[in-house]
Amino acid sequence: MATEQSYIMIKPDGVQRGLVGEVIKRFEQRGYTLKGLKLMNVPKDLAEKHYQDLSARPFFPALVDYICSGPVVAMVWEGKGVVATGRKMIGATNPLASEPGTIRGDFAIEVGRNVIHGSDSVESAQREISLWFPEGVAEWTPAAKPWIYE
Ligand code: TYD
Repeated sequence: MATEQSYIMIKPDGVQRGLVGEVIKRFEQRGYTLKGLKLMNVPKDLAEKHYQDLSARPFFPALVDYICSGPVVAMVWEGKGVVATGRKMIGATNPLASEPGTIRGDFAIEVGRNVIHGSDSVESAQREISLWFPEGVAEWTPAAKPWIYE
């Protein structure tokens, strides 16, 4: 049973630039299962909690302002290896270092406008999912599962 989950978030620039469908398409086409999805404006305390490990970094205030600058799309994606593979699909933190073919490598230039977030470990994913989806996520099994997993 593949139950690994990742917290994936389309940041305000990704929403404003109309990249929501493109991001969802890539995760769907890879075979991952969408378990949670909502468009929301981000309260400052939630952005600060999400990025709490970076609170001492000089870019932290600008990062929080950016995340709160417009709606984000908060998502939970599930499937085998989704945390590590999701990070590969997203690309390097600095888009100029992201390979073409990755989301940041195809759609971004600056680290402070890098379109998307993806959990960096299974433990971070669990923390982030409880933070962003305290109400829980949907329970369902896609009919295509036997065609994606052997
Ligand atoms: P980080 O968790 O290091 O990267 P990632 O999003 O790839 O997991 O940093 C979180 C976000 O902070 C990053 O997506 C963009 C922002 N950031 C900056 O604005 N400047 C920086 O120098 C770094 C390292 C990150």
